Amino acid sequence: MSGKLYDDRGNKDRTITKDGKVGELRAADNRRAKPVHTRDAFLIGDGMTGGYGRGADILHDCTIAVEKGQIAVIVGPNGAGKSTAMKAIFGMLDIHTGSVRLDGEDITQLTPQARVRKGMGFVPQNANIFTSMTVEENLEMGAFIRRDDPSATMAQVYDLFPILKEKRRQPAGELSGGQRQQVAVGRALMTEPTVLMLDEPTAGVSPIVMDELFDRIIEVARTGISILMVEQNARQALEIADVGYVMVQGANAYTGTGQELLADPEVRQSFLGG
Ligand SMILES: Nc1ncnc2c1ncn2[C@@H]1O[C@H](COP(=O)(O)OP(=O)(O)OP(=O)(O)O)[C@@H](O)[C@H]1O
Ligand SMILES: [Mg+2]
Repeated sequence: MSGKLYDDRGNKDRTITKDGKVGELRAADNRRAKPVHTRDAFLIGDGMTGGYGRGADILHDCTIAVEKGQIAVIVGPNGAGKSTAMKAIFGMLDIHTGSVRLDGEDITQLTPQARVRKGMGFVPQNANIFTSMTVEENLEMGAFIRRDDPSATMAQVYDLFPILKEKRRQPAGELSGGQRQQVAVGRALMTEPTVLMLDEPTAGVSPIVMDELFDRIIEVARTGISILMVEQNARQALEIADVGYVMVQGANAYTGTGQELLADPEVRQSFLGG
């Protein structure tokens, strides 16, 4: 993650289907002739239906996808199922219909740990760091599945988030909210993921810290890592999104490029405060 690594975004294609059914493209429709997200997207949770344990379904035929080096953002009201969709993609919840595929491989049956080995990094919404451990210990924990020496990756994380290097011997619990989120993101990067999933990485941080964190996330995407992110700061997140998903009641409500969603009067009125 030295400066050099962060050149050149991967996929710049910004076309996308509008109906949220990205897994079920209709070839006859010209507007969908060249979608970003197809059934062979780099990561796709395709037509996911399921819930927690034996409870009622929370997700209803929900499709979320991201291409290599792109930033996909999920927005929507509280309780819409955004975190549930992330957990389903990461394998923390059984879906009884649909599938999850990574780089062409069906990973629906894999455990979260197996998915990490396949290249997924996940930063959950809550409890995403070990507060009593130092910053550096948190990063070391992130590398737990690696057999090789992770010190080069740690140096890259410190390049990305210099404050973490300064505070590496401090308990992570002593850091500010924004710095803790950096620890969480850094920890996930320690496995050298191909996909980084972030559930509300800017929760509880100031607007300035949010902007900084988004800049770092863009930098990570520029290395070719796909970003799948849930965000409460919908407007700002869609600004940096190659693709955005509005989820309502466990289902896709609107899908488009970030700019398309920002310009859509219905999306603006209902989800972006006008
Ligand atoms: N562990 C769980 N067990 C049972 N139901 C759950 C669990 N976690 C969430 N739910 C339910 O699933 C639904 C969707 O919740 P989820 O946390 O996915 O929403 P969200 O869009 O992430 O909301 P928020 O914006 O508040 O983070 C809610 O009705 C919630 O009560
Ligand atoms: Mg959530």
